[in-house]
Amino acid sequence: MKRILVTGGAGFIGSNFIQYLLAERQDIERLVNLDLLTYAGNLENLLPVQDDRRYTFVHGDIRDRKLVSELFETCDFDTVVHFAAESHVDRSITEPEVFLTTNVLGTQSLLDAARRRWNLEPDNKYCREYRPGVVYLQVSTDEVYGALGKTGMFTEQTPISPNSPYSASKAGADMVVRAYHQTYGLPVNITRCSNNYGPYQFPEKLIPLMLHNAQADKSLPVYGDGMQIRDWLHVKDHCSAILTVLEKGVRGEVYNIGGNNERANIEIVRLILSELGKPESLITHVQDRPGHDRRYAIDNTKITTTLGWAPAYTFERGMRETIEWYLQNPGWVERVVSGDYLDYYSRMYGEV
Ligand code: NAD
Ligand code: DAU
Repeated sequence: MKRILVTGGAGFIGSNFIQYLLAERQDIERLVNLDLLTYAGNLENLLPVQDDRRYTFVHGDIRDRKLVSELFETCDFDTVVHFAAESHVDRSITEPEVFLTTNVLGTQSLLDAARRRWNLEPDNKYCREYRPGVVYLQVSTDEVYGALGKTGMFTEQTPISPNSPYSASKAGADMVVRAYHQTYGLPVNITRCSNNYGPYQFPEKLIPLMLHNAQADKSLPVYGDGMQIRDWLHVKDHCSAILTVLEKGVRGEVYNIGGNNERANIEIVRLILSELGKPESLITHVQDRPGHDRRYAIDNTKITTTLGWAPAYTFERGMRETIEWYLQNPGWVERVVSGDYLDYYSRMYGEV
């Protein structure tokens, strides 16, 4: 792993991953971050690495096939880590189309460029030989498995059964990645992770939104009864899991990533209020998300037992540090909470 393409590196997980990888692996020659800078992309997330001579930012769209194939030619990547996506479930309910084009067609554009550059005879459809050491990693989500009842966990064998336009687009992308492995032998991995939290998360997602509203004494919009369960993973643990799969994963395999941290949404919201010393009267139960998945839980047995990965953060430490980060970076939050974000939330919630 010497020359790496990271897509969506200006977003929440991508920016954490770039910082993590450049700190962990000194032998990287070049890391290119291809990002369109949608409302969710923020180059401020990359200030700590912007002067690293190994790092380059390219402003562009993964759906731009010409740009993507030129990048493969000029940079000679041996590794792709594909984060770029439309990632917010609520937005997918009101604007599904861009989820399909970015998440499915954008993935196919990258797969085609990787196959053309890496296959030893790209014009021969029967050739399954690739340059040694190359890998394409698709960052997917546990949401492709659909929703769980009170018991059970998602394993890599759980049938794909997405319920939102977002998760359907991620599932579609996973199927295309799988097909490129089955048909062309492209060396791929798919990782399916549970809910991430940590620094640089856009304040449309549960934890930073609730933190921001609580600090401003605004109401906290909890969907329905707030008893939906998510399985929380610190973003740095997600980054270490991705690096583990890149370095030790068996190509063609899917790996679930989770931290065994199931919490009801209302529990998280109460924790945030208590940490900030704010009253629970700020909680407002609002109309539930259409098609809202009730529970997610990841069985991480495969990655822990076969690759030796384990999460380092407890939920208590992760949440303490995350709350601290948001409190210490009010400027970051304020610069993000503007424009598109405000319009979007006034459309979503009215005056929240
Ligand atoms: P994010 O919304 O914070 O960031 C997405 C990034 O992709 C942004 O920088 C955006 O500018 C960029 N982007 C969007 N469309 C693009 C395009 N057409 N071309 C190039 N760049 C584009 O997302 P995130 O929360 O960091 O999630 C990253 C990935 O991880 C996504 O694929 C998501 O599905 C997956 N994932 C997220 C979570 C989570 O809890 N956040 C959990 C599991 C999986
Ligand atoms: O499970 C992995 C997924 O986690 C990723 O694939 C997605 O990209 C990521 O956005 C996240 O999806 P969720 O829908 O679970 O995350 P979100 O932060 O939007 O919501 C978490 C839970 O909190 C969910 O049950 C909905 C609820 N919620 C969310 C918001 C924004 C509320 O009750 N109120 C809110 O205002």
